Amino acid sequence: MNTQETILVIGAAGQIGSDLVLALRKKYGNHNVIATDVKTPVFDVYESGPFEILDVLDKEKVFKMVKTYKVKQVYLLAALLSATAEQNPKFAWNLNMNGLFNVLSLASEGIIEKIFWPSSIAVFGPTSPQINCPQYCTKEPTTVYGISKLSGELWCDYFHKKYGVDVRSIRYPGLISYKSEPGGGTTDYAVHIFHRALMKKNYTCYLKPDTRLPMMYMDDAIRATIELMEADKENIKVRSSYNISGIDFTPDELYKAITTHFADFKIDYAPDKRQAYADSWPKSIDDSIAKEHWNWAHKFDLTTMTAEMIKRLKQP
Ligand SMILES: NC(=O)c1ccc[n+]([C@@H]2O[C@H](COP(=O)([O-])OP(=O)(O)OC[C@H]3O[C@@H](n4cnc5c(N)ncnc54)[C@H](O)[C@@H]3O)[C@@H](O)[C@H]2O)c1
Repeated sequence: MNTQETILVIGAAGQIGSDLVLALRKKYGNHNVIATDVKTPVFDVYESGPFEILDVLDKEKVFKMVKTYKVKQVYLLAALLSATAEQNPKFAWNLNMNGLFNVLSLASEGIIEKIFWPSSIAVFGPTSPQINCPQYCTKEPTTVYGISKLSGELWCDYFHKKYGVDVRSIRYPGLISYKSEPGGGTTDYAVHIFHRALMKKNYTCYLKPDTRLPMMYMDDAIRATIELMEADKENIKVRSSYNISGIDFTPDELYKAITTHFADFKIDYAPDKRQAYADSWPKSIDDSIAKEHWNWAHKFDLTTMTAEMIKRLKQP
């Protein structure tokens, strides 16, 4: 990337933004990465480079920000996640779809050159294969969030085919990180459980002990994102969104991994509405196409992720 060009991150105060902005700043320079959100981000993000309040639904302001900072790339992270979206379907649809349209249309007008927009394993549904769910298969999502992500994928592909927009996307699994609180997804338990273990308190899990879901440590997800954005254009042959895979585990398996560090840690289970969302998603993901197209490979497994989370959360 040319050093005169800048990157705009929209939704920078969230779980992914808190890590992604710092990784992008490390790579491209603090002042070349503009963090924006409707709320103030964590201190590291706020103090290490430019931060502006920006609502992605305000197309005029997005346009002005792009012009002011000579933005060439946009990472669009603002969205309502699965559990929150289900409580407010119309608002979720508005934010998840119109936010994307605002950014896609700036690219179709040639104002920005490249977009990263994340999709999710929530695009799959009960009729999708549950084990090693492939890139291409039946997708009938049953959540508002999944419907918005699947529609978003189709729009990304459409804007690429019709206007040549260079939009790139990953279907993230549940992400595990220590920097910022997760934002209302079904896989948030896999972060909350660590905080409770460190507080030496019991954890009540809202999913059943044997609920297997695809997951990934944030370092892998950030690396995947940047590697995808840096890959040669001709290698990116999927313009809807790429399956990527990290780890898959159940709450019981994660609990057992944590007890190797905290022997007295206790868990109980009280499944709620989120169980149904989790049950509608695959248990594991086949990411062979991402491997083939842009050499994707995850690094963290359950043991190394657990040790890393505990080490990081223990640091003052
Ligand atoms: N975290 C995960 O496990 C996961 C998994 C799959 C996909 N994703 C996707 O990745 C993206 C980011 O996820 P996240 O976990 O960081 O979510 P998050 O909820 O933690 O962060 C989203 C951020 O967007 C901001 N935001 C909300 N409305 C906005 C608006 N109108 N304008 C600008 N900013 C706004 C919020 O303030 C928040 O800081 C989302 O598209 C999400 O669907 C996340």
